[in-house]
Amino acid sequence: MRKIKRHNNRRRVIILRGIKYLLIISALLLALAFVLTNFVFKDSGEEETVTETTTEVIVLEEPEPEKEDENIDNKWAMFLVNKNNPLPMDYDSRIETTMIFESWREYFLDSRAAKYFDDMLKAAKEDGIDLLVVSAYRTIEYQQQNFDNSVQDRIDNRGMTYDEAYADTLAEVALPGESEHNAGLALDIMSEEYTSMDDDGFENTEAFKWLDKHAHEYGFILRYPKGKQEITGIIYEPWHYRFVGVYYANEIKQSGLCLEEYYEEQGWTDANGKAIEMLGPWEPEEKEPEVTTAPANTEPKETMPTTPYSEQKVTIIV
Ligand code: DAL
Ligand code: ZN
Repeated sequence: MRKIKRHNNRRRVIILRGIKYLLIISALLLALAFVLTNFVFKDSGEEETVTETTTEVIVLEEPEPEKEDENIDNKWAMFLVNKNNPLPMDYDSRIETTMIFESWREYFLDSRAAKYFDDMLKAAKEDGIDLLVVSAYRTIEYQQQNFDNSVQDRIDNRGMTYDEAYADTLAEVALPGESEHNAGLALDIMSEEYTSMDDDGFENTEAFKWLDKHAHEYGFILRYPKGKQEITGIIYEPWHYRFVGVYYANEIKQSGLCLEEYYEEQGWTDANGKAIEMLGPWEPEEKEPEVTTAPANTEPKETMPTTPYSEQKVTIIV
């Protein structure tokens, strides 16, 4: 009897152990299933999501150029005007000009550039420098008049033939439509100290030194620097400043390049110097100009000399 009882006890123990192991194995299987479901499968399932998140981060970091774009002010003003890149025929009708200086006549600039010049004029004044504008926006007709007078002057006073006079003039006065003055973005700045354009003497003035140091801060570059005639096609003009916006003026000043070289370096021109990446008039302007007073196309006479060209104080305006 006792034997049977002991045997029954052993059987119970074995059964209990079996149940215990079964429970442990079940628990382990459940745990394994949980791990697989929540971590292994979920992870692999989310691999794409993780990739998406990574892509998102890259996309967020990518707009670096856009960020740079935000730093570029007046992008519209960064375009080439020269013999390879004449202005569109109807350019006059696309701009508005504002009077920026008054002496013996009134001078105008593209309205969008006007306030930059005004700031520069005031800053120079605060430093004791009185800048004197001797030319700014020119109509196509006025540019033609300048060109013809320059040719005639060489024939009359320098003994040149017409062909010689024409070629010589080309290095100083741009043909109509090929001048930044026609775009309302260039101005010739001198000072009472020195108003002759017959030589480079203006570069020795305090006004020139001030401009050389500060013009880029207001978006203007010395457009025809010394030693760049072969590239620009124009003689050294220490008085001719061109508005390109503060960002590009700083870039160009820092580079030591002239505008044609800068364009080439950026890959913006082809082998013939023709701009392939052109802003300004070649891209529709979305924003309305801020300041408007005298529309260039409706009041072109504003920029014409008030006295006959031959009687002007500055006879040849280049
Ligand atoms: N003197 C410069 C080249 C012009 O006429 O625009
Ligand atoms: Zn000029």
